[in-house]
Amino acid sequence: MNLEGKRILLGVSGSIAAYKSADIASQLGKSGADVHAALTANAAQFVGVPTFRALTRNPVLTDTFEEPDTKRIAHIELAQSADLVLVAPATANILAKMAHGIADDMLTTCLLATPQSTPLLVAPAMNTQMWLHPATSENLRILQARGVQVIPPGSGLLACQDVGEGKLAEVSEIVAAVMATLGTAQTLAGHHLLITAGATREPLDPVRFLTNRSSGKMGYALAQEAIRRGATVTLVSGITNLPPPHKANLVRVETAEQMLKACLEALPSVTGIIASAAVADYRPLQVADHKLKKREGEEEVVLRLAKNPDVIAELGRRKRPEQRSIGFAAETQDLLANATRKIAAKNLDLIVVNDVLKEGAGFDVDTNIVTLVWRDGKRNALPKMTKAEVSRHILDAYSELPRWRGQF
Ligand code: PMT
Repeated sequence: MNLEGKRILLGVSGSIAAYKSADIASQLGKSGADVHAALTANAAQFVGVPTFRALTRNPVLTDTFEEPDTKRIAHIELAQSADLVLVAPATANILAKMAHGIADDMLTTCLLATPQSTPLLVAPAMNTQMWLHPATSENLRILQARGVQVIPPGSGLLACQDVGEGKLAEVSEIVAAVMATLGTAQTLAGHHLLITAGATREPLDPVRFLTNRSSGKMGYALAQEAIRRGATVTLVSGITNLPPPHKANLVRVETAEQMLKACLEALPSVTGIIASAAVADYRPLQVADHKLKKREGEEEVVLRLAKNPDVIAELGRRKRPEQRSIGFAAETQDLLANATRKIAAKNLDLIVVNDVLKEGAGFDVDTNIVTLVWRDGKRNALPKMTKAEVSRHILDAYSELPRWRGQF
């Protein structure tokens, strides 16, 4: 993709991964972008300022009091004229400063001066304990709620010799995220998608419930991507710890019956449905008002379950002819046969099948391995990719569905 005419502010903070941002600067520059680097003092300890000056062919911002041109406040001008701001690597420290509006050096001042409407991407890199620290999670939550796009770190051997999460995402992934953000055509402008996500939770008594391992990552990635393409999104979400995508109309539910009710309310106003939620097929027949007690001598108990409504099947029965619907199939065997059966049973236009036993696919991971199966039997088996990338394929396919053209 050509980034000609796009100005990118690349913030580099003090992590050993800072050397990789030289590669990021180089790749963005080769794609035509006008890249301006701003380094924290710690970042400049890891990589030399001349490296970024040579790669970007622009002055490098490091010190608030050392403006290259004394007649202009270049860092404010730059922050306000950038088409996109990327902080890579983003340390726990800079994420904390960004979340709390601290501007005590050149980079953080630029970040605070960046208009809210400018896309802001961060690619965290840090030690696993720092990444898992509640303070970091809370800061990311604050930033995501403001619309900051987080390019999640990978797992592996870190510079501190720990093995775990916190490794800067691959340079290619970071560059692709920039491209995707800058190059996103508003192909879904004027459309309204109903997306279901996460796990339902079916209570047994006030303290126990039946649920499943869905994290909501797949559905939230779909919502995020649909919003980036200009769609209005109603996100009916079961249980998840994820922050809601910026601009999504979030409806939180717990049980399958609540999910059905929320979806039926949204149905008349939507142009399409994507059902990625893992909905419990059964719920405890009786919900006790008080905590169920263990009984002396009772070695086995029988739990009676009642059938839940099938949310997407019900939507499939009631949808108008121009409303398209995409379902998911979480399978462990006979993938394609089961998927084909579900397309018909749930009146879907397309189904996304994942083998949830495969490593890197399905529940509670950042990646997925899916096959798209259309109503007419056409298939597209995709390799392992992030859920954000899977979402792009699904929404591309959605845009191409036969009833798409000229309907809305
Ligand atoms: O949330 P993540 O951790 O990211 O995991 C993603 C995922 C594994 C949950 C996702 O990729 C996925 O496969 N979602 C569908 C899970 C599922 O319930 O599959 P199913 O084959 O049981 O159901 C088929 C379809 O019917 C699904 O679209 C489901 O949302 C829908 N359904 C199922 C049962 C029911 N009572 N109501 C429904 O609407």
